[in-house]
Amino acid sequence: MKKQIEVSAPGKLMLFGEHAVVYGRPCIVTAVDQRVRVGIEQTESNFLELNAPDVGIERYRRNIKGLGVSENLSKGARFVEIAVKNFFQQLNVSSGIRIGTSSDFSSEFGFGSSSAVTVAVIKGLSEVFKKNLSKREIFDLSYQTVLEVQKVGSGFDIAAAVWGGTIYFVKGGKVIKPVKNIPSVVGYTGVKADTTSLVLMVSELYKKQKVLIGGIFEMIGKTVEQARRSLLVGDSRKLGELMNINQGLLDSLGVNTPELSNLIFAARGAGAYGAKLSGAGGGDCMIAFVSEDSRKNVEKAIKEAGGKVLRVKTGAEGIKIEK
Ligand code: PMV
Repeated sequence: MKKQIEVSAPGKLMLFGEHAVVYGRPCIVTAVDQRVRVGIEQTESNFLELNAPDVGIERYRRNIKGLGVSENLSKGARFVEIAVKNFFQQLNVSSGIRIGTSSDFSSEFGFGSSSAVTVAVIKGLSEVFKKNLSKREIFDLSYQTVLEVQKVGSGFDIAAAVWGGTIYFVKGGKVIKPVKNIPSVVGYTGVKADTTSLVLMVSELYKKQKVLIGGIFEMIGKTVEQARRSLLVGDSRKLGELMNINQGLLDSLGVNTPELSNLIFAARGAGAYGAKLSGAGGGDCMIAFVSEDSRKNVEKAIKEAGGKVLRVKTGAEGIKIEK
């Protein structure tokens, strides 16, 4: 009997260090308990068949020999198709395959559904074809896939999807170390942001202002190092302060927005230790570091400021086989 498998991988939120991580500085990322689920089944056909109703893809079919050749693949199909192509090429397999994906969360939130799907597809294929890939190998193949599709990215979201928990991370997976998690409240601005264009915008600014923007990246890197130490000793006040400093530095990269600022100031005013945007900026989510005493007030303040509180738990489990 042909093997069928279901795999899930978590979404992520950036805690410290976004943008500077693209330039080789470290970051701290956490996996969230909102997961992407992928079902994979080997078939007798010569096709990749894909159903991903959450992103509007139904009964997508592509000949195995032509995987990845068309330039105008829809974004939702592209990550899956290129992941399958890369897996088949590198592991020297070829087969008909049927894939179905679904997500616990909307792709609007910036939780990294594309990276989580990529990771889950590679893990699923590794199981179906009995290749027993290690986490590191799954990371490398997934990172290669994501870079092929979207050209830019540090791979932090892939690391979160593979290993889960909260991780200190350096681009390309040069360093991946688990760290302690922090209790947080997550607010969504209601504005969908495009990560790739924000990364390109920062790179344009960097070209124009090498010294200043290079200095900001350096400071963000130092903020992350201090945050790592504060996590180790459990210094909440300092961590909150570092979050606020990180937010100021991100603002100077031009990726903050009035909507993000409103939610961030509301959270701080309601007693959060600190608050900042999370991810590329330009919209999407902010994150506030809270004590259990202040949680309710912070949630209320974010709502009153026009945000949507997303009930997510951070430090969630990495990829896993569901059945
Ligand atoms: O927008 P998000 O949540 O995918 O975060 C992007 C983080 C960046 O540092 C700006 C890019 C990257 O790949 O690290």
